[in-house]
Amino acid sequence: MAETKMGESSRPLFIPVILGTVRKGRMSEPAARLVHAELARRRGVETELIDIATLPLRVDDAGEATKMPTYAAYMDRADALVVVSPEYNHGYSGLLKHVLDSCLKEYIHKAVGIVGVSAGPWGGARTIENLLPVMRELGLVTIFWDVNVPNVNTVFDESGTLLDQAFLRRIDKFLKELVWMAKTLRHGREHVALE
Ligand SMILES: Cc1cc2nc3c(=O)[nH]c(=O)nc-3n(C[C@H](O)[C@H](O)[C@H](O)COP(=O)(O)O)c2cc1C
Repeated sequence: MAETKMGESSRPLFIPVILGTVRKGRMSEPAARLVHAELARRRGVETELIDIATLPLRVDDAGEATKMPTYAAYMDRADALVVVSPEYNHGYSGLLKHVLDSCLKEYIHKAVGIVGVSAGPWGGARTIENLLPVMRELGLVTIFWDVNVPNVNTVFDESGTLLDQAFLRRIDKFLKELVWMAKTLRHGREHVALE
């Protein structure tokens, strides 16, 4: 692995964005596309938008028995994840959880940041809080910044265009922290033994 003088790997970070709902007309989609576009603009980062609606998801079993090769390969390659999660009855989408549960060892010691999306005023705060213990159990390391998208119909118009530019600053702060954690954990995975 090539390294800089500071001991940092020179390989670009791979940070996919998971769009965590299959609902028709989902407003989480413009949020996921925006974060994906902002990640793609960052130097030293490669990204991919993973739409769970397009995954060949099996619903006749659960956990690693439902592992999907393409999704698992993305998770294996990932240094960090962004999960875009709508708030459904104060929780997350069941299908998002089903997809997340399909892998395990692929997530360990990798960073995750969560974007919560809601029609109501709390910006998916409850879906984020409910996802935190799930992320921990999967071996992911959560960052201390989230992106909250409240009243999502006022943040994006019907064509998915961003109406409130303040989100760009919030996303930038969130991604800076996620990239720092991704680099730090990659250094740990590559150089620090588990003793
Ligand atoms: C089953 C269901 C439950 C929902 N529960 C909540 C909720 O608890 N709080 C809230 O603010 N919005 C709730 N919403 C609205 C979503 O947050 C809203 O649709 C938002 O755009 C994010 O979801 P979407 O990506 O499916 O559009 C709910 C929507 C559905 C379909």
